[in-house]
Amino acid sequence: MNFLILAAGTRNKVVQYFKRTFAGEGSVVATDASALGPAIYDADSYYIVPSITAPGYIDMILDICKKEKIAGVLSLIDPELSLLAQNEEKFAAIGTKVIGSSYELCEMSLDKFRMYEWLKKHGYRTARSWMDKEAFFRAVEAGEASYPVFVKPAGGSASIGINKVYDAETVELLFAHEKGLMIQEFMNGQEIGADVYIDLISGEVVSIFTKKKIKMRAGETDKAVSFKDPKLFALIEKFVLEAGYRGQIDIDIFDIGGEYYISEVNPRFGGGYPHAYEAGCDHMTLILNNLRGTANVKNIGAYEEGVYMMKYNEVKIVKGI
Ligand SMILES: Nc1ncnc2c1ncn2[C@@H]1O[C@H](COP(=O)(O)OP(=O)(O)O)[C@@H](O)[C@H]1O
Ligand SMILES: [Mg+2]
Repeated sequence: MNFLILAAGTRNKVVQYFKRTFAGEGSVVATDASALGPAIYDADSYYIVPSITAPGYIDMILDICKKEKIAGVLSLIDPELSLLAQNEEKFAAIGTKVIGSSYELCEMSLDKFRMYEWLKKHGYRTARSWMDKEAFFRAVEAGEASYPVFVKPAGGSASIGINKVYDAETVELLFAHEKGLMIQEFMNGQEIGADVYIDLISGEVVSIFTKKKIKMRAGETDKAVSFKDPKLFALIEKFVLEAGYRGQIDIDIFDIGGEYYISEVNPRFGGGYPHAYEAGCDHMTLILNNLRGTANVKNIGAYEEGVYMMKYNEVKIVKGI
C-alpha cells in the first residue's frame, strides 16, 4: 500500500513520519512544484509537478496515482485542498482515497469570513468580524467595537498581510489598497493550536492534541507546550462533528479569560504537527488503519502535558538536481 504527499515543500518531518509508518507496507511518494522543495528528498521517490493551476494538473496527479498504485493521497497546502476534494471520485475510481474534508468545508475553511459566519450561526464563540468597513465604523460609533483590531485578507494564510490596527485612518488606507480584507476584533488571550484526526470510516473524532503557543514566528508556531483540558476537548469534538470535517485538521483557538474562542481551521496537517506526533499522537498510523479499512478506536488526549516544542533550522544537501 503506497502513499502520496502532494506539495511536500518544507514539511520534511511529515514525510519522514509517513515513511516510518509505511515501512514494510509500501512506499511514500512526494511531489513539489520545485526541485528545491527539501521534503521530496526524504520520500522513497518524488515527482516535480507543475503548479496546481496548470492545465491538466489533476490528470497528471491521477496518472502518478495509477502508476505508483497509490492507496491514499493528501496535500500539505491550502489551495490544493478544494481541488483534491472536487476530484475525490476520480481518485476513488482508480483506488486512491483522498484524505481530507469535503469541497464545501475546504472552501469555507479557506474563507475566514464565511467561517466566522458559520461559527456565529452555530453558537460558537469567535472574534467578531466585518468585511464591510462602514458597518465596522458604525459598530465603533455605537460603542460595540473598539481598537485595536486585526485587518487581514479573508482568504489569507501564513500571516501574510496581517495588520494590527489602532485607528480608522489605517483601516481606510489598507482597504484602499487591497480587496477582500476583513476586520476582526483583537483577541487578547492565550493562543492555542489543536491537531485533530477525524476517522474516515466512523466519522468520529478519534484523536486531539492541544498546545499553548508560546512564541510565533513568520506565521508559524515557533515554541509551544502541550496541555489538556476536558472542556476544550469537548468543545473541539462538538464543533468538528457539527461542521463535518474528515481526516487531519488543525484548529486555531484563543483562551480569553477561561472561555475558548474558535479562530480558524486548516483542513490539513499544520506546520506544528510534529509536536503532536512526538508527544504521542501518531496520526499517520490512524490514516494507514483507515486505508486498510479499519476504523480507529477513539483515544482523545493520548499524550503527556508539559511537552515542549522548539523549532530550529535544518538544511538538506542534494547533489546534481
Ligand atoms: N483577531 C485577532 N486577534 C489577535 N491575534 C490575531 C487575530 N487575528 C490574527 N491574529 C494573529 O495572527 C496570526 C495569524 O492569523 P490567522 O487568522 O490565524 O491567519 P493565518 O494563520 O491563516 O495567516 C494568529 O495566529 C494570531 O497570532
Ligand atoms: Mg492561523
